Amino acid sequence: MPNNNSTPQQEPETTLSRGEFIRSLGMSSAALMAFYCMGTLSSCKSSTTDPSPGVITPGGGSNGVTGNASTGSGAINFTIDLTNANFTGLKTAGGYVSVGDIIVFNAAGSYKALSRICTHQGGNLIYSASTNDLICDLHSSHYNIDGSTKSQPIGGGTITAVKAYTTSLSGNSLTVKA
Ligand code: FES
Repeated sequence: MPNNNSTPQQEPETTLSRGEFIRSLGMSSAALMAFYCMGTLSSCKSSTTDPSPGVITPGGGSNGVTGNASTGSGAINFTIDLTNANFTGLKTAGGYVSVGDIIVFNAAGSYKALSRICTHQGGNLIYSASTNDLICDLHSSHYNIDGSTKSQPIGGGTITAVKAYTTSLSGNSLTVKA
């Protein structure tokens, strides 16, 4: 018999625990982790490699970098293992990676390292191979690859030069220091 009542029918309210909900989907915990990892790769990385998105912190060597890359922890002095998966892209011209407070990049086959922290308001610098310079991700100021200023922030403000660090290559070990 049709229901002529205009009031919407209410389903009985049920509350599922997290575990019950997962079981109701018929997915194992391993399958769920794989599902999460497909969407957000960074959330599945080791905690020693990614304190903030895209930035690698020196660990015990398993993540390919040892030493100090934090300006707040003394002199900058760290070594990168270019055979580690975190750094293989650095071997290609145009590749770059942020290690602690430093950006290391490959400018047409030459390794360079600069402070990655913009002097305007602390934005993050990225390397652009097409213009062979570094661009701040906050207000698009530009720095030359020696750390000197190239163009000021969009919308006003002033940048000053960022510190440049020396790089030396021995086999597949790239050392960066002040
Ligand atoms: S923080 Fe870099 S240009 Fe403003």
